[in-house]
Amino acid sequence: MTQNLADTSRPAAAPTAANAGESRGWWRDAVIYQVYPRSFADSNGDGMGDLPGIRSRLPYLRDLGVDAVWLSPFYASPQADAGYDVADYRAVDPMFGTLLDADALIRDAHALGLRIIVDLVPNHSSDQHEWFQRALREGPASPLRDRYHFRPGKGENGELPPNDWESIFGGPAWTRTENPDGTPGDWYLHLFAPEQPDFNWENPAVADEFRSILRFWLDMGVDGFRIDVAHGLVKAEGLPDIGAGDQLKLLGNDVMPFFDQDGVHEIYRSWRRILDEYPGERIGVAEAWTPTVQRTANYVRSDELHQAFNFQYLSTYWDSAALREVIDLSLDSMRPVDAPTTWVLSNHDVTRHATRFGNPPGNTQIRTPGDRELGLRRARAATLLMLALPGSAYLYQGEELGLPDVTDLPDEVRQDPSFFRKAGQDGFRDGCRVPIPWSGTEAPYGFGPTAGGPSWLPQPAEWAALSVEAQTGDPTSTLELYRSALAVRRAQPALGGGTEVTWLDSPEGTLAFRRDSATGEEGGSFVCTVNTTAEAVTVTAPGRVLLCSTGNTEVTGDQAVLQADSTTWWAV
Ligand code: NOJ
Repeated sequence: MTQNLADTSRPAAAPTAANAGESRGWWRDAVIYQVYPRSFADSNGDGMGDLPGIRSRLPYLRDLGVDAVWLSPFYASPQADAGYDVADYRAVDPMFGTLLDADALIRDAHALGLRIIVDLVPNHSSDQHEWFQRALREGPASPLRDRYHFRPGKGENGELPPNDWESIFGGPAWTRTENPDGTPGDWYLHLFAPEQPDFNWENPAVADEFRSILRFWLDMGVDGFRIDVAHGLVKAEGLPDIGAGDQLKLLGNDVMPFFDQDGVHEIYRSWRRILDEYPGERIGVAEAWTPTVQRTANYVRSDELHQAFNFQYLSTYWDSAALREVIDLSLDSMRPVDAPTTWVLSNHDVTRHATRFGNPPGNTQIRTPGDRELGLRRARAATLLMLALPGSAYLYQGEELGLPDVTDLPDEVRQDPSFFRKAGQDGFRDGCRVPIPWSGTEAPYGFGPTAGGPSWLPQPAEWAALSVEAQTGDPTSTLELYRSALAVRRAQPALGGGTEVTWLDSPEGTLAFRRDSATGEEGGSFVCTVNTTAEAVTVTAPGRVLLCSTGNTEVTGDQAVLQADSTTWWAV
């Protein structure tokens, strides 16, 4: 099933434009743009995004000013969880293209100075993966069963699941199998959908296989891996009961026997050794939901991964005090391990921040559109705040267009597996996965090659006005704000780098902090002011306005008016 490239003679880790002229720690302050391949650009008009589509849009990303692109999974997959159910880790799903397309995409990106990070899904495979299929076919005696978690059920006839664990997507985390002779058999563990059986990382064949998969993609030239469910690989010995229901609510607060077990760190130490064998500072990024930022810091110790997503920041509402607290906490937690803090506001699993901030404070899954104008205004301000912080920032495709979540998708088009399993995660993630509007006045707005052509999720009519084409050249547009912000970030040595912010006194409901150039260059200091209130606030102008999220910070003499829900960047 695994595809092979014709060009097998190419040396491993051939030097690339991205690798050439290596800078120490490029990832420490990188802006990394997440592409969700299903929804970015569709080259062949089948309604589904693909690798040639992404490739054709790389110049857009270069011009936007990002440093690297993280691609959500494009591997061979039955798409039970939009590609996070991988049937073959070394093959591209035909829906997205071929390995040759992946190779061309990586080469083109490097030629444009962009790095490529691919998604790795080591916690579980697809139930269509060859190992799992053989384990089922060969029955209880199959040695392949030990590569997953197969267990006999409880109860007189094994009719009850082996323990009380619940799936993140709802329902029990176990599904019963049928023996080859048709009788009811053992159960297998799946923390997510039944189509996503969890690997048993105690089995050495699993560890070997993933080390080989890492090398496969590193040899292809990728610059790093985003590691899915990085906190889930190792389960507590004996798979003990939790003893409580509604377990989703415990996640992120309590230590669970299936998450954030200390044993995961040995795996990442072995992966780091592999990453370090390759030139060009290849990186690993942990998707690790842990109870505290201090626990998250364990994943980025100097001999483990390079970055971990900062979900505490993503979960913080638009409120100056809460933001200051989470910023301090994030920076303080990463300092002891000398890892950069990361910042993220949106991704393919949460409601877009333009919609979250137009709704009252709540969780990261919001079902109502809220106040669109307010949400966008705050989202623009939140982005400028994020890009002013020391460390690496993640952007999710479409946020640069100010896209809201699509909260009114009809049930029949939804594909999020948790939508169909109710009791678990909310299941409304399709709302942030609607294809990108590029141009034109008729759907799919340049997402596919033909006006009136299909897109796997329908786009709202209002998105014609939000397309890349419609926003380009309009100085008030969100796209131009992102372009300017990223250009200023590149030009200002005090932005992104370093690990410190110096808080300045500022009125209630506002934030002000200074960033000094790590190199101590003249004129390299920078101040960011943020107003999270609904009223304009007058302050002493800290310097010269570089950029403002509302486009109009009024300065009269030494007095500056910070507009409601705005962020301003100042050169000092
Ligand atoms: C996290 C991914 O971001 C999400 O989309 C996926 O459903 C789960 N992991 C399971 O792989």
